[in-house]
Amino acid sequence: MPIEIQKALLSQEKEVQSLFLEGTGRTMSDPKILLETYPCVVALDNQEVIGLAVTTRFAPDILELANIYVRADLRNKNIGSFLLNFLEKQTKDTNYKAIILANSNLYENQEGKRSAENFYLRNGYQPSFQTADTKIFYKVV
Ligand SMILES: CC(C)(COP(=O)(O)OP(=O)(O)OC[C@H]1O[C@@H](n2cnc3c(N)ncnc32)[C@H](O)[C@@H]1OP(=O)(O)O)[C@@H](O)C(=O)NCCC(=O)NCCS
Repeated sequence: MPIEIQKALLSQEKEVQSLFLEGTGRTMSDPKILLETYPCVVALDNQEVIGLAVTTRFAPDILELANIYVRADLRNKNIGSFLLNFLEKQTKDTNYKAIILANSNLYENQEGKRSAENFYLRNGYQPSFQTADTKIFYKVV
């Protein structure tokens, strides 16, 4: 069965939470509120959540990509790009005009470090401000 990309459902809250934890080592605070309030997308393999893109509010008209994650064994198959693309389409239906994100070497990552910088550039995200360890990217949707 092909991978499906869809808006995250509240019924997927626990699966989204546990994939987020697997990917970041962090617990999402208030996942129910995030899923209810902001664009949030999942990738499903046979009904199992194997990818996520979760946003939160950065400013009244700007969303922040809080996290994007694809299960390690399914990477480099465009699933991450499909998640972003779906998220951007979903964002167009809201009052949010842009998506911003921080790509930082300083976040804890259980799987070791590989920068997702190229992934964002390929998907049309523009680099803006940066410090020694963190780059801010944005895309107007
Ligand atoms: C970043 C991520 C969501 C991309 O998902 P994906 O389904 O592999 O993405 P796509 O197949 O659409 O694109 C592949 C590109 O993603 C990037 N990528 C692949 N594996 C990656 C990894 N482990 N970590 C970071 N970026 C990765 C590469 O740029 C790759 O293209 P390239 O090898 O030609 O440079 C996925 O790799 C992931 O979950 N990484 C770990 C979590 C993470 O880094 N999240 C971003 C936090 S800012």
